[in-house]
Amino acid sequence: MQNAGLAALGLNWRYLAFDVRPEELRVALAGAKVMNFIGLNLTVPHKVLAVPLVDVLDESARTWGAVNTIRFEGREGDEGWRPLREFDAPPRQIRSHGFNTDAEAITQAVREELGVQFAGARILLLGAGGAGRTAALKIASLRSAELYLVNRTPSKAESVAAEIRERFSTVRVALGYPTSEVDLVLNATSLGLRAEDALPFDERQFSLGQAAAAYDMIYRPAETPLLQKAKAAGCRTANGLGMLLHQGARALELWAGGPAPLDVMREALEKNVYV
Ligand code: ATR
Repeated sequence: MQNAGLAALGLNWRYLAFDVRPEELRVALAGAKVMNFIGLNLTVPHKVLAVPLVDVLDESARTWGAVNTIRFEGREGDEGWRPLREFDAPPRQIRSHGFNTDAEAITQAVREELGVQFAGARILLLGAGGAGRTAALKIASLRSAELYLVNRTPSKAESVAAEIRERFSTVRVALGYPTSEVDLVLNATSLGLRAEDALPFDERQFSLGQAAAAYDMIYRPAETPLLQKAKAAGCRTANGLGMLLHQGARALELWAGGPAPLDVMREALEKNVYV
């Protein structure tokens, strides 16, 4: 997706994957900095670990407590910091700037693909891990009306609910399943990644007939048991590919400036994810 995007923008950069042990994240980031990397993405478990390791935190990373995108920036003398793409030769000073593009990507994908407007919506959110917490807070920040949180480990859902009550007091947040209709059920658990996984919710307590739309953050397999059941129940459905696309497109925009070539990136994703 990123390499297709870079090619479409006419940039001779390359996007590569590196396996880094969490205890070596600090040295890996320092290495990327001295090698004049334009930027990088981080995935689990590095997103949270990177927060104290970057030189500056963007508001997005501070808000969600996780960094999934770093942009390296440079300056000469005491002029302002600029993205490395703007320098012909490596500048004297370089800093790492941490951003989070995940939260926006979730709501953008759900809005685009399912037509769900979050303001005033009633939502059942499954999962309160890293992705679930970010989704819950982002949805609450858009002033959803009611948010139902369900998680295998109830204490995690409780702490997310407490954070929402403190930060977004107008949102009604409840632990457990809704008894009437919801606009959206959103899966942020890892259940569905493996064929033998159980459904991410309890069918005795909630029926997909109660939901107008279902979004699964999982994109491989393309259709999880949750999405199959939701489709059969007449829900509008979408998988997490759009979220993956949008977090990546926003990262590319931070590195390269200007709009990302979304269609090219989406096509590359579809071709490469489902091989
Ligand atoms: P991510 O960053 O992808 O959110 P995570 O923080 O490990 O990863 O969260 C995984 C989510 O899937 C959590 O909500 C987790 O529930 P717990 O908080 O109880 O661990 C959920 N999950 C993972 N395996 C599960 C299982 N077998 N049954 C129910 N929920 C599960």
